[in-house]
Amino acid sequence: MITPALRSQLLQAARQVLEKAYAPYSRFRVGAALLTRQGGIFSGANVENASYGLTLCAERAAVAQAVAAEGPGLEIRALAVVSESQEACPPCGACRQVILEFGREALIIFQGPAGPVDMALGELLPLGFHLTVGGKKPE
Ligand code: THU
Repeated sequence: MITPALRSQLLQAARQVLEKAYAPYSRFRVGAALLTRQGGIFSGANVENASYGLTLCAERAAVAQAVAAEGPGLEIRALAVVSESQEACPPCGACRQVILEFGREALIIFQGPAGPVDMALGELLPLGFHLTVGGKKPE
C-alpha cells in the first residue's frame, strides 16, 4: 500500500516521462515510474530499435535507472505505467518478471480500459521464476 499522494506522484512522473519515449516504429509511447523502499522515484520510457526485438520497455528502463542510483539492494514498492493512447497498458510478461526481481510485494498501477488499475504484482504474475543457486537465493 502507498499513500494516495505517492500514487498520484508516480502516475504524474510516468505521464511526464512518456514525452521522452523513443517510439518511432510503434508510435506507442509508454512511461513508467517506480517508488523504492528508500523513498526514491525513478522513471523510464520505452526505447525502440530498427531491429524491433531490441526494444526496451518503459518499466525495464525505470528499473535500470533505479539500480544505477540505489544499487543491487533496490526494493521496489510500487510502479506505475501509462501509455499516451486510451488503450490499456498493463506491463508485459517480461517486465513483470523483471519487476519481481526487486519487488515481490510491489503494487502495480497501470492504465486500464477506464482509468488506472491497482494490482499486486503477485496477481499479475502468480508463478514468477526464482532462481536458487546451491539451494540458496543469490545475494
Ligand atoms: N511497451 C512498454 O514500454 N511496456 C510494456 O509493458 C508493453 C509495451 C512498449 C514496447 C514498444 O515500444 C511499444 O510499447 C509497443 O509494443
